[in-house]
Amino acid sequence: MAVIASVSKDTTPAPSIEKLVELVSDGMDKVNELILSKAGSNVELIPEIARHLISSGGKRLRPMLTLACADMFGYRGAGHVMLAASVEFMHTATLLHDDVVDESDMRRGKLAARKLWGNQASVLVGDYLLGQAFKMMVDVGSLESLRILSEASAVIAEGEVMQLGAAKNITTTEDQYLKVIEAKTAALFAAAAEVGPVIAEQSDAMKAAARSYGMQLGLAFQLVDDALDYGGSSADLGKQIGDDFREGKITLPVVFAVGRGTDAERGFWKRCLEGDSLQDGDLDEAIRLMAKYDAITDTVQRARIYGENALSALDALPEGPHRDALADAVAFCISRVN
Ligand code: IPE
Ligand code: IPE
Ligand code: MG
Ligand code: MG
Repeated sequence: MAVIASVSKDTTPAPSIEKLVELVSDGMDKVNELILSKAGSNVELIPEIARHLISSGGKRLRPMLTLACADMFGYRGAGHVMLAASVEFMHTATLLHDDVVDESDMRRGKLAARKLWGNQASVLVGDYLLGQAFKMMVDVGSLESLRILSEASAVIAEGEVMQLGAAKNITTTEDQYLKVIEAKTAALFAAAAEVGPVIAEQSDAMKAAARSYGMQLGLAFQLVDDALDYGGSSADLGKQIGDDFREGKITLPVVFAVGRGTDAERGFWKRCLEGDSLQDGDLDEAIRLMAKYDAITDTVQRARIYGENALSALDALPEGPHRDALADAVAFCISRVN
């Protein structure tokens, strides 16, 4: 039973991103077309692997941020569609790489590319998509957008490497964890939002507000992702719960449970997260300890705080349907189950 679903039972409808999806739907049709065409290559394996992942869906949150953050200023060009497609390609590339690093078996409800074609092909097709993303950015011709997105690309890699350094070490602190998620996840949300006002030639204040919105939303998004890895359901998520546990990844729910546990419980965490061999029932015990110490609910509570920050950042952006839809995206990211 998904812990997060079971603690949030009330009668109000779950927050959704319907308004955002509707507002940017014309642009997203173009983004999706572009994504499929740029995933092509004469090297057969490349479109096969790229399309496997692309056609499996995904929420397309990041490119929708780019479109909305340009549309909200009345942007009329085509550059935002290409930037949005680049952002989604960067995201897709990191997923291909991330599943290799994390040894994950499922992605978007299907077998991860690495399970079907192997690690080597997954990494190389990820590289191809990154290359395609940068070519599209060059075609847009906005040097500032190129700078922002290339910086994000480097920072994401730094975040993933930082995470490797913190893995299998239960003394990792909340601060260290936050640095990792800011780099590996929030940096792309921030860049995706910031390039909207950049392409629409807006002031530095608007760019900073959009960036701050994306950054805070990205932090909330990853906190919830890390809560869902213990408290969600594999069926909803389309990826296996417990991946972080099996990998010895030190996420905030772990930091809370370890910090609040008894010596014996800390021994359990040390054996599971720092050692190499898990036993049957270990994940269930981890989830039980997290419930005992409110580790999952408190992680979601932290996400709410970043969500509030994201909403405050929105105050500086122009009022209207796009801003409202971006506010809905905050509520969605916090209560999401997938
Ligand atoms: C997954 O991101 C990677 C994380 C940063 C947690 P999403 O949950 O946005 O993945 P898709 O694109 O919807 O599959
Ligand atoms: C995602 O972190 C970060 C990047 C993809 C860069 P996770 O490892 O938590 O993402 P999932 O859970 O595999 O989607
Ligand atoms: Mg992963
Ligand atoms: Mg995860």
